[in-house]
Amino acid sequence: MPADFFADISDQQTPPHYFYFDGSTWKPSATGATVEVISPIDGSIVGTIPMLSSQEMDTALLRATEAQVSWEATPMNKRVGIVHLAADWIRHFQDYLVALLIREVGKSKDEAKGEIARTADLIDYFADEVQSMRGMTLDSDNFPGFEKGRIAMIERVAHGTVLAIAPFNYPVNLTASKIAPALLMGNSVVVKPPTQGGISALHLVRIFEKAGVPPGVISTVTGTGEVVGEHVVSHPMVSMVAFTGNSDTGVAIAGKAAMKPLLFECGGNNPVVVMPDADMVVAAREIIKGAFAYSGQRCTGIKYVLTTPAIREQLVALVLKTMPEMVKMGDPRSPETKLVGPVISEEAAIKIEQAILASVKNGAKCVIGGKRNKAMIEPTVLTNVVPSMPIIAKETFGPVVSFVDVSSFDEAAVIINRSSYGLQASVFTKDEGSGLVFAKKLNVGSVQVNGSPQRGPDHFPFLGVKRSGVGVQGVRYSLEAMSRLRPVVLNKPQ
Ligand code: G3P
Repeated sequence: MPADFFADISDQQTPPHYFYFDGSTWKPSATGATVEVISPIDGSIVGTIPMLSSQEMDTALLRATEAQVSWEATPMNKRVGIVHLAADWIRHFQDYLVALLIREVGKSKDEAKGEIARTADLIDYFADEVQSMRGMTLDSDNFPGFEKGRIAMIERVAHGTVLAIAPFNYPVNLTASKIAPALLMGNSVVVKPPTQGGISALHLVRIFEKAGVPPGVISTVTGTGEVVGEHVVSHPMVSMVAFTGNSDTGVAIAGKAAMKPLLFECGGNNPVVVMPDADMVVAAREIIKGAFAYSGQRCTGIKYVLTTPAIREQLVALVLKTMPEMVKMGDPRSPETKLVGPVISEEAAIKIEQAILASVKNGAKCVIGGKRNKAMIEPTVLTNVVPSMPIIAKETFGPVVSFVDVSSFDEAAVIINRSSYGLQASVFTKDEGSGLVFAKKLNVGSVQVNGSPQRGPDHFPFLGVKRSGVGVQGVRYSLEAMSRLRPVVLNKPQ
């Protein structure tokens, strides 16, 4: 039963005060300081999570460092078995985790079920894929000027302790996407959950603990991003940092991480280019889905559409005509609600509203939506937007899509490449060959041809350039990123 399995991660009060995990024990912080997790749906307190002292963070990191050596020495097949068991536990507690996710971050039931199921599948895929990771050998005489006789034996080894920092919008999936590869490659993992979504992430850590991850190998450091950023990121016992979150935070963390390997997914504006020959019905539906899914709170959410005025007129009309079928703002717990519920907080909603108002003041036209009620932002479509307007100059993590007129598709490519973001872009055209040619002009992580930007399927490479990320995620790529090569050069008897 969930109540038993998760019993000792909180004080079981109403609302529960959750504990942090120091690697072997769940307990409150000695500071007594906590932060409330407020549901965006109804403003209720889901629970509290502790704010750790730097000493408590140091203890978790010391335990992680000490435990890592024996964890890496654990046979791979045992590490694989533990990680597979974690995936099974996730499936076993799916309903409980889904209900918590809905309340904590305002996902719909379908979105929450999708995240939990996808997480279990992702963890299993990591545990399968790692078994095909291979080292290699190289002979000295392959290179000009060198004789036979030396051989490099190259294996992949752990970094040491990985600091995993996860975002609110996928607090289970994007925590697991760091924990699983880190553990499988022999690292210890110190998890920094988001504040909102942090309770769901703590439940995930409990699942890995119960699956058999040894004491010290996994732990949590909870508290504000600033405290963790200041103290943990630059800590000498942190070997590698894996982060998903907004670009400003990413830049700040990267600045503190010094020479540490980084694996970052940050913000993106994910433009869509619609060519004259595109299937406009498909383009309109993908734009709606890509812009409004989970209330636009996805790093891969569509933020603007680039096309010529004539196409924009036709496309906006089609988007407005199709929206009532695909989008209905409301309580994410209601089956009537489609794609758009509250954003993560009223504070976040106010920032989105301000960006809309500032852009309209600068000449943008609001053709639908634009209004806020507490944490609810209406699904919004703006036209006559230019790249310098606040609504797209900075990532707007909300249900807003902007149309930017261009006079040519070369101009569209210039606008995309001038952006400080570079996560994904989409191009819609019936001629996939010209889509491919256009895609190669874009300085972004991935380009989707005739599809909206998305991270999945999760074995595909997923990366951002510029302020959108560092390194490459995706099953095999994450396993490689969570490890390093260790060549040992030996004499090779002739
Ligand atoms: O916002 C997180 C980013 O990973 C988006 O994932 O699957 O919604 O494209 P997805």
